[in-house]
Amino acid sequence: MREFVFPDGFLWGASTSAHQVEGHNVHSDWWAWEQAGRVKDRSGAACDHYQRFEDDFDLAVSLGHRAHRCSIEWARLEPAEGQWDDGALRHYADVVRALRRRRLEPVITLHHFTNPQWFLARGGWTNPKSIDWFLRYVQRVALAVGDSVRYWVTINEPLVYTRLHYVQGLGPPGARDFGQALRVIEHLIRGHAAAYRALHAARRPGSPRPRVSIAHHLPEFRPCRRWSLRDRWISRVTDHIYNLAFLQALTEGRAAVPGVVTWRIPEARATLDYLGVNFYGRQFIRWAPDAGAWPGSSCDLGHHPREVTERTSLGWDVHPASFTYVLCRMAQMGLPLLVTENGTCMEDDEHRWRYLLRHIQAMARAMQRGVEVLGYCCWSLLDNFEWADGFGPRFGLVEVDYATQRRTVRDSGRQYANICTSNRIPLDTSWNV
Ligand code: FCB
Repeated sequence: MREFVFPDGFLWGASTSAHQVEGHNVHSDWWAWEQAGRVKDRSGAACDHYQRFEDDFDLAVSLGHRAHRCSIEWARLEPAEGQWDDGALRHYADVVRALRRRRLEPVITLHHFTNPQWFLARGGWTNPKSIDWFLRYVQRVALAVGDSVRYWVTINEPLVYTRLHYVQGLGPPGARDFGQALRVIEHLIRGHAAAYRALHAARRPGSPRPRVSIAHHLPEFRPCRRWSLRDRWISRVTDHIYNLAFLQALTEGRAAVPGVVTWRIPEARATLDYLGVNFYGRQFIRWAPDAGAWPGSSCDLGHHPREVTERTSLGWDVHPASFTYVLCRMAQMGLPLLVTENGTCMEDDEHRWRYLLRHIQAMARAMQRGVEVLGYCCWSLLDNFEWADGFGPRFGLVEVDYATQRRTVRDSGRQYANICTSNRIPLDTSWNV
């Protein structure tokens, strides 16, 4: 049987984010957005993970995980401007300790889509002061847990954050304004750079060098209609803005959206120690000048019936070969990669397992070609609150009954555990379920 053996110490695990699992994140902008009825579900108690994190980490260990990605909630630490909640800071120190005690390597995200309400009220990431405010928060976190954390994610999916919240208006502040979106991107670049330096500066002698990155959402963009020059052009432009420009800023200190804006941010140069890759699938793009502020739009799936054979319950295209492509392409940056998210919300658990297996095989194929991947964190450990889509989509290796908070390990969670514990995966086609 052909199989691929992963390197020793490969970081197998799963990811979550604070707002999606913790519950009662009352000082965050997303909480206010939900209370205002802007989305169909309210996160409420979510998975009550704020209270149950120890049990949830025990579950992760029982499933063979060796790493865990989670986020710290700024709105809990600084519920009002300049007012710090030491209890919340102690809580996250406990979380990191709980991970370390279980030999789960912490991968800690500092910003995962949510902000304190006071921050948004002062203009959020459109305000140039956002960088100092974010830095102040990061410095507190570094002081509290820096010694115990090696892998950091400063900002989760900066471009998805910007698109959802400032272009499509699907999250707070609900803006649809390309100009604001460009300002947000610039401040996120600067915020990342400030956080990168703060995390490195906080390192105490004797503790390991931190490894800092963003978690970058990296779809493979394809034109809806291959014969259309406009579709091909707009999918290349989207690829540049969405996939490449931010990374260019964090490697070269300079990036441009041709004809629109050039960012010169020398302090952002060389501020990636590895690259966090979030991968879900391919995205089809078509020329749609009527689509509003963003220059193109995701294609109506009806335009390419022959290309898309499989979709998730959210309608996302499933295409594991694109994962191999994205990993090989990103490896050209010369940085090690860490898969910070990959997973699916198929209603049928067998489909979830099929998705995971085929994507892990796709990652193994990239590694066979020499791509350095440090680990794989599946999205997600638990079913959780999927933003504007509410509690409907279920991404968990572990099912959550929201009425009782009962956890039930899914078969896909057990199958994934076999890969984590054996550290190998069959590549035989007979296994390509
Ligand atoms: C990613 C987000 C994560 C979750 C998954 C399904 O874009 O980072 O919070 O919503 O999608």
